[in-house]
Amino acid sequence: MNDSKIIIALDCSDAGTALSFALQLDPEKCRLKVGKELFTSVGPKLVERFVGLGFDVFLDLKFHDIPNTVAKACTAAAELGVWMVNVHASGGRSMLNAAREALDQFEQKPLLIGVTVLTSLSATEIHEIGLEGTPEQAVHRLALLAQSSGLDGVVCSPLETAMLRETCGDNFLLVTPGVRPAGSGQDDQARIMTPEDAIRNGSDYLVIGRPITQAPDPVAVLDSITESIRFI
Ligand code: C5P
Repeated sequence: MNDSKIIIALDCSDAGTALSFALQLDPEKCRLKVGKELFTSVGPKLVERFVGLGFDVFLDLKFHDIPNTVAKACTAAAELGVWMVNVHASGGRSMLNAAREALDQFEQKPLLIGVTVLTSLSATEIHEIGLEGTPEQAVHRLALLAQSSGLDGVVCSPLETAMLRETCGDNFLLVTPGVRPAGSGQDDQARIMTPEDAIRNGSDYLVIGRPITQAPDPVAVLDSITESIRFI
């Protein structure tokens, strides 16, 4: 059984590169994230291929549309056999309920995760789009909306994890990007945390891209991160 907390972000636009990278990995020791770049470039066949190889796939397409459209998109994702799918919590309660109901039709249903406030948004931009309060208040409000709409968890910055764990309790998944092992580069991530600290603060899953995908020996980096969080 796969009990890995590490989701590797396959951020590229080429099926061959993504597949040859994945073929180095043991599907029992990690999970894979396919986002908008790879999905838009190569389509669902690659997702089906990963699922066929035994990988748990997080389809990170952040659906945000009218309830009927999001429900159908979630159904299509579930039919691909993905393990996790996400939607914007700011799509509103009806949209979140529609996504929940669509996935509940499946025996093997993907986990349904909400995006609260994109961590790339500054306080000024958050104000400009009309969200009230501080960024933290908006994250808090949208996480509670996601939880009360039956979602399984939210994506959050490592700096929000402790607050959300406290607010949402133990049975709500926190999926955290912006994770950097000690000593690795920050890339373009503004607010980072080590895998150990992110797990200590309450993360369930760590989304890690470049520190693993760009490493000379990705499997060694994956193994060492896995080892660093094994007993936390
Ligand atoms: O390479 P790196 O570890 O920075 O990749 C992080 C992944 O998590 C990327 O796929 C990025 O799009 C995603 N992500 C993020 N910050 C968010 C939401 C998603 O870095 N707030």
